[in-house]
Amino acid sequence: MRHLLSPLDFSVEELDSLLDLASDIEKNPDKYKHACDGKKLATLFYEPSTRTRLSFESAMLSLGGNVLGFADAGSSSAQKGESVSDTIRIISCYADICAMRHPKEGAPLVAASHSSIPVINAGDGGHQHPTQTLTDLMTIRSLKGRLDNLTIGLCGDLKFGRTVHSLINALVRYPNISFVLISPKELRLPDYIRQDVLEANNVPYKEVEELEDSMTNLDILYMTRVQRERFFNEDEYVRLKDRYILTPEKLEYAHKDMLILHPLPRVNEISVAVDNDPRAVYFKQVQYGVYVRMALILTLLNINI
Ligand code: NCD
Repeated sequence: MRHLLSPLDFSVEELDSLLDLASDIEKNPDKYKHACDGKKLATLFYEPSTRTRLSFESAMLSLGGNVLGFADAGSSSAQKGESVSDTIRIISCYADICAMRHPKEGAPLVAASHSSIPVINAGDGGHQHPTQTLTDLMTIRSLKGRLDNLTIGLCGDLKFGRTVHSLINALVRYPNISFVLISPKELRLPDYIRQDVLEANNVPYKEVEELEDSMTNLDILYMTRVQRERFFNEDEYVRLKDRYILTPEKLEYAHKDMLILHPLPRVNEISVAVDNDPRAVYFKQVQYGVYVRMALILTLLNINI
């Protein structure tokens, strides 16, 4: 039995097959509409979510399966003090596969070690968010045609942004990737990624504080929200939250074919005036997220169509 806890749980070859399957689902959705008949997905969300949870539900429904779960820890037995390891033993009796989001780093790993069904990490604290990474990879591969030879700008909250951590882990495995890390000093990429992932893999990167300075060199600009819920101090959040706002004026310096991604939700970091720019692909990205989660469910359940 397999789980998805980190993007590294799949080899590059396995990721390629998963993305090929997601592209086939995009082209031929009818072929898959009964693939999960009789199967159940449980969504265990101990932290707020719109896209990820509904995207998983939409994916399972599009495969003919059913969904059950909770969207709020307050309405689950966690409120009564039940541990994640007990909860997953229970859920294993009710469902065939589950997606878990939790504020504590490592909670899905704990769940996986007590589970008899595949566990998908749908975001654990400020740590990892592998299914957002699958979404980002499918978006880049579909719209750029490649996952190698790219200069990627990551902008915003690189400290707490789990989507950034997972995306870096996944992309360093492709040839000729480099990163521009754009953040205020307070929200720099943690050492355990800068040193243990970027430097350990000899991946070129530079750290800058201004978004405008590096715009001209980027193939991808990945914007992120400042992660308010992970701050210890509200004043610090307020001081940093509007540090970067992408506007049409700033985009004048960017390549004509640079893609702008964002895992969403957006707060202020991309002006709505950018939404109609053909380079803005963050709403298309959401659609890719459903195809890729369909492919992931089929892969973890070992269903071949
Ligand atoms: C992201 C997350 O939850 O980490 N959202 C998502 O799943 N698309 C990004 C965020 O909340 O800023």
